[in-house]
Amino acid sequence: LEQARRPSVIWLSFQECTGCTESLTRSSSPTLENLIFDVISLDYHHTLQAAAGDAAEHAREQAMELNAGEYLVVVDGSLPGPNANPGYSTIAGISNYEMLMDTIEGAAAVVAVGTCATFGGLPKADPNPTGAVSVQDLVKDKPVINVSGCPPVPMVLTGVLAQFLTFGTLPELDEYGRPRAFFGQSIHDRCYRRPFYDKGKFAEAFDDEGAKAGWCLYRLGCKGPMTYNACATMKWNGGTSWPIEAGYPCLGCSEPEFWDAGGFYKPL
Ligand code: SF4
Ligand code: F3S
Repeated sequence: LEQARRPSVIWLSFQECTGCTESLTRSSSPTLENLIFDVISLDYHHTLQAAAGDAAEHAREQAMELNAGEYLVVVDGSLPGPNANPGYSTIAGISNYEMLMDTIEGAAAVVAVGTCATFGGLPKADPNPTGAVSVQDLVKDKPVINVSGCPPVPMVLTGVLAQFLTFGTLPELDEYGRPRAFFGQSIHDRCYRRPFYDKGKFAEAFDDEGAKAGWCLYRLGCKGPMTYNACATMKWNGGTSWPIEAGYPCLGCSEPEFWDAGGFYKPL
């Protein structure tokens, strides 16, 4: 039987660390294999595609041509802005800026994945040597969905893709362009250590009796009250664990200005 063509996804990786793709490979429902073999046609992705060099660029151009107006562009990483030196980050001799603007032209929507693509992330942190900007700083004439997090929770990304590809609709977004279904509540509101916070039981050191008893990590710098993400309920590695369950405070990795906001274990 002839199979219906799977929706095309073009994934662009700019100034990033591949952590977002690493996270995606840990998606459990659907798995990455299920996603790319049964649900979407992943036509361009530096880490996952078999093609290289000219063949890879040809695959991107062909996907754009064959699926004009229908394909999705996923971006991880920030990119040097239009006024920055284009040589700071290039792929196949094309600047990141040029490649983004060229690739989104026929796209139905753009999904920015990870805190670098959504808010600029580490490359944009002070002193921002490459003049990095986020996807939403540049894309003004297409819907942009921000799946933030460093890295993002993989099933948030697959959930957004599945909704768009199954129903052709985009999720309701919060003030930062993040899907409300996943980013609508704070880490603090869904944290299993919250009863300790409410009773005033706090760990004061990473190895004290409170830490061993699983008390609240607020006094060790937890940014859960100011951070919106789905970690507390979706977790990682098929629901195995997440930072606070592993004993570390939330760093606020899904919020704008994460790297410059002092989230790294600074006591409050
Ligand atoms: Fe809130 Fe963090 Fe304490 Fe959890 S550990 S209750 S997120 S302050
Ligand atoms: Fe990031 Fe905090 Fe979740 S650091 S991974 S938003 S618990």
